[in-house]
Amino acid sequence: MSLFGFGEVSLIINIIALFLLIVGVVRRKGSKKVLLRHGYLSILGFALKMITVSFIMIPTLVMTPIEMSKFSPLDYWIIIAKVTFGILGTVMGFICIVPWFFKPLNQMACIKVKRWMLPTFLVWTLSVVLGAVVRLGAII
Ligand code: HEM
Repeated sequence: MSLFGFGEVSLIINIIALFLLIVGVVRRKGSKKVLLRHGYLSILGFALKMITVSFIMIPTLVMTPIEMSKFSPLDYWIIIAKVTFGILGTVMGFICIVPWFFKPLNQMACIKVKRWMLPTFLVWTLSVVLGAVVRLGAII
């Protein structure tokens, strides 16, 4: 059971964050203005994700220690995968976003980390799907 029953809130926020990312990725072709919108939407999505990580996920894990031996092997591996992809997606999202701020935004310094973006997008999607399985399957 997640802290204060905020698990559903966290899932909904993460689905919104992923949706913002998808809109930005799918509609990224075209002018610089469109690409900048992709950047802003990614950052907004990342910020929403960080809010749930900082205020719901980490406090839940710290305040309600999980006894892993209680889970079936399948549930165990789903939880491990969810946490792993969640951490990985956060770190990779950071790598995609931060270089943008080293130069004036319209110089698009983020292009240097473009090769990170598709893998980040895939890892991020997987972590939200696994989060939905954990929550809707009432695993934690
Ligand atoms: C969580 C952060 C981000 C994710 C997950 C993400 C995801 C993606 C994906 C999936 C692609 C297509 C990759 C490909 O065709 O190989 C892409 C392209 C691109 N993104 Fe991002 N992105 C992120 C942040 C940013 C930021 C902050 C900027 C800065 C404006 C940016 C600028 C670009 C550019 C310039 C392209 C190349 C466009 C193209 O050639 O089609 N992205 N991104």
